[in-house]
Amino acid sequence: MQDKINQYTADINAFITTQADELEAFRIKYLGTKGLIKDLFEDFKTVSPEEKRVFGKVLNEFKQLAEAKYNELKESLGTETGSTKSEADLTLPGEGFELGSRHPLSLIRNEIIDIFKRLGFVVAEGPEIEDDWHNFSALNFPEEHPARDMQDTFFIKKNSGKDDIALRTHTSSVQVRMMEAGKPPFRAIMPGRVYRNEAISARAHCFFHQVEGLYIDENVSFSDLKQTLYHFVQELYGDGTQVRFRPSYFPFTEPSAEMDISCTICKGAGCNMCKHTGWVEILGCGMVDPNVLENCGIDSKKFTGFAFGMGIERIANLKYVIRDLRLFSENDVRFLNQFQTEIV
Ligand code: DAH
Repeated sequence: MQDKINQYTADINAFITTQADELEAFRIKYLGTKGLIKDLFEDFKTVSPEEKRVFGKVLNEFKQLAEAKYNELKESLGTETGSTKSEADLTLPGEGFELGSRHPLSLIRNEIIDIFKRLGFVVAEGPEIEDDWHNFSALNFPEEHPARDMQDTFFIKKNSGKDDIALRTHTSSVQVRMMEAGKPPFRAIMPGRVYRNEAISARAHCFFHQVEGLYIDENVSFSDLKQTLYHFVQELYGDGTQVRFRPSYFPFTEPSAEMDISCTICKGAGCNMCKHTGWVEILGCGMVDPNVLENCGIDSKKFTGFAFGMGIERIANLKYVIRDLRLFSENDVRFLNQFQTEIV
């Protein structure tokens, strides 16, 4: 019996493992219900009373040795928490995660905001569900006048005209809200989503984005409008970009104009993007019609101002040459990942 114990003690002292299954085999071999220690205790029952006195102590010490060894190895393996440290390669690199990218429309919107902020414009927002007054009537669209057909409206509630509720067709509605809510001077840009009832194609969509601009003060003139927009274009597309203003019509401005810039793709030489004219239209603008000022409670004898509105998709197209409008709303990561920028 002493020989066996000596042999087992040497084995146990020499035993070392980093494998959970080997440690479990160790436990079964020595400490299991059919293990060697159990056998030794069985043998112990058969020895003489003198031997019992000697071996009782030896046997107990041996059992403690086996248990201590087992606990020590178990702790170093972390098997108590169920994890097997030994199987994890701690030198492997961690799992990477992909950084998202800003949507191109957000990039352009932020760029536009930055340029106008430097000129002292604040940013304002308004609701996407609008009433007739803010989307049409206050902006000098006469009731039942065909001018309202300029914009294919998604109506939510259609009654008599005055009580209609619709998805806003342009961000010009935010001008009205701003002027009604405060006192001049106003100098603001208003980015937001707008809706029109159009069949979806590469060139048209039922929703898109605009940035509206409004500047109201005493003695604001058309030359202020031209200079502001000229500066904007130089900042956005680079020095040397040409601009031209063409007379146009909007119910809420008088006089009204549309502004073209020299094609940013072909630099005016003629290409698909500018339909070989060398020019592309980017916004509508004009001097705010006195009727609009009066509708919003502003003295049109004292105050004048200009307004403009541009489509963000249009601006993005000219910057990134995106030929299909649908790409902006499909969330295809192959498209979106092309606009990797520093996210701050
Ligand atoms: N609201 C017009 C549109 O959606 C754009 C526009 C034109 C806005 C002239 C203006 C403006 O503020 O003065 O087509």
